[in-house]
Amino acid sequence: MAPLVSSTLVVVTGANRGFGRHIVEQIAKKVQPASKILLLGRDSSTLNEVKSYITAKNSVDAEYYSGYECANLDTVALEKFLTSATEGSAFENLVVVHNAGTVGDVSTPASELSLEDAQTYMSINFSSMIASNNLVLSVFGNISHRFVVHISSLCALAPFKALSLYCSGKSHS
Ligand SMILES: NC(=O)c1ccc[n+]([C@@H]2O[C@H](COP(=O)([O-])OP(=O)(O)OC[C@H]3O[C@@H](n4cnc5c(N)ncnc54)[C@H](OP(=O)(O)O)[C@@H]3O)[C@@H](O)[C@H]2O)c1
Repeated sequence: MAPLVSSTLVVVTGANRGFGRHIVEQIAKKVQPASKILLLGRDSSTLNEVKSYITAKNSVDAEYYSGYECANLDTVALEKFLTSATEGSAFENLVVVHNAGTVGDVSTPASELSLEDAQTYMSINFSSMIASNNLVLSVFGNISHRFVVHISSLCALAPFKALSLYCSGKSHS
């Protein structure tokens, strides 16, 4: 990724581990000092660890929010966090990375999935992403350059046995 040449607000979901943490660490190296990274997840100790790591190694500010549960997205609390974490700051770029997600149940064939299985999976992996994306874009509607990234998968392009929900979710995103 080319260095972002002006102040950037970065929002990453599932920022505490795996791919999300790696993305955060890489972006933290590229952004300008007046930038800020908001780490969304549901495990405060690992989020705090990521925050400490990136702020110690880079000239970037960061804050985390541990109430980001995709199965039960609290948009009111998330909006409060987004607003208070950026109060008094101005950014020229917004980068939003939707990374949080699960593969889901890989042992049940598509023909045996229930309505509840499908609804629960899509709520966690698809609907919550749409709701949080719309919220972030509305809270930061004043930032002129906005970049939204959804972490996809080969499964968005090709079918895999027992991954029907994962493939469907990724191909719709
Ligand atoms: N690994 C791969 O080979 C691969 C390939 C293609 C695409 N991807 C995509 O890359 C993204 C990250 O994958 P990964 O391999 O890094 O997975 P991972 O190590 O299992 O991490 C998943 C992340 O999503 C969060 N998460 C899961 N369920 C959640 C929920 N209900 N509410 C809030 N957060 C939740 C996890 O938080 P907790 O720590 O709290 O569980 C964690 O931060 C996913 O979208 C995945 O589909 C991965």
